[in-house]
Amino acid sequence: MSAPAEPRDIRPLAGKRVVLGVTGSIAAYKAADLCSKLRQAGATVEVVMTAAAAQFVTPLTFQSLTANAVVSDMFLAAEAEAHVEVARRADALVIAPATADCIANLAHGQTPDMVTLTALATTAPVLVAPAMDSQMWAHPATRANVETLESRGVTFVGPASGRLASGRTGAGRLVEPVHILGALRAMLGKQQGDFAGRKVVVSAGGTQEPLDPVRFVGNRSTGKMGFAIAEAARDRGAAVTIVTGPVALETPYGVARVDVSTVAEMLEALTAATLDSDALVMSAAPADFRPESPAGQKMKKAPGQETMTVTLVKNPDILASLPAGGVRVGFAAETHDLAKHAVEKLASKRLDFIVANDVTAAGSGFGTDTNQVTLFHAGGTVEELPIMTKYAVAHAILDRVKALLQ
Ligand code: CTP
Repeated sequence: MSAPAEPRDIRPLAGKRVVLGVTGSIAAYKAADLCSKLRQAGATVEVVMTAAAAQFVTPLTFQSLTANAVVSDMFLAAEAEAHVEVARRADALVIAPATADCIANLAHGQTPDMVTLTALATTAPVLVAPAMDSQMWAHPATRANVETLESRGVTFVGPASGRLASGRTGAGRLVEPVHILGALRAMLGKQQGDFAGRKVVVSAGGTQEPLDPVRFVGNRSTGKMGFAIAEAARDRGAAVTIVTGPVALETPYGVARVDVSTVAEMLEALTAATLDSDALVMSAAPADFRPESPAGQKMKKAPGQETMTVTLVKNPDILASLPAGGVRVGFAAETHDLAKHAVEKLASKRLDFIVANDVTAAGSGFGTDTNQVTLFHAGGTVEELPIMTKYAVAHAILDRVKALLQ
């Protein structure tokens, strides 16, 4: 067995310098939450704001959240100089919220404030999260400005639909900070990630095989491992599709999600999704058997009935049924004889490697946020990894997939 790999700093924005531009919208208060989330993700954050934004939220708020000075006054020579420096060293510029006025200025290269000035002075990728009234968003002038900016490589996230400050309902709400963060990670991944241009398919969660319209045969899989793999692959620039059984998890921003419930549906969805994929990571827990003949109506117990027998029939093995092609990674969740079962599955399912874990071990298995896995490779190598967050395990898996793709 090889030595345990070191868990690395897997905060998704570790080492990144993000400039957050805040413009004058009531949604500016949400930028404070975004700021905090960016820092938790490992980024160094510097805030530039317009004078109008400073009417909604004070520079002190952002200064406290970032531990960096906030640049907002264009008429202070020192600040004007500072913006050039801030712009030069940025890995990304995020403008959230971006007003219609800000978007118009960006499109025309005008620099009436520190945010647009910074945008013009940077070569870093720019992410814009608009916030405005729905009629302003729909106006041909705004449409044209957005089109111009997109053609120049600017990425937009949102706006979302819902209740607006004006009292109207429509498209114009700033998207939630968690999605702005997701969009930033996806944008940086596409531009700098080692999976840029690759298509990765992930399966997640358990299946539900119906007994009748209200009951099913299922298992304890929560989908957390699969969703962490999808998120990590997205962060590294892959186009990601997740085929998932019923789970209570939010779709990571930018990941295409296909919801299924039975093994038959999962097989069909994966057959379509893997047609042109580079890798399949099969972390789902498909049911091996399904009720032979699900009842069309809710099953009722008969008077005096003490037992019930259900005949289960074998489901297809999804991995065995999918045509070969691309890198194939399987999972083996075991309660005993881990190595023996993992090595058997590695061969029978024609995998490049299998991720095995003892689901009875502390900090591993269903529902936990951490996992301790052993990788069994087709060539015979075995790697025992230390206990790590599922997101870190996801990166360790993708590192091996990457090596196989090269
Ligand atoms: N798998 C599959 N199709 C199935 C069952 C499992 O493709 N019908 C995949 C899983 O997604 C996983 C791997 O096969 O990647 C191993 O799954 P597991 O349930 O551990 O193995 P089984 O083959 O079902 O064997 P057993 O349940 O007997 O341990």
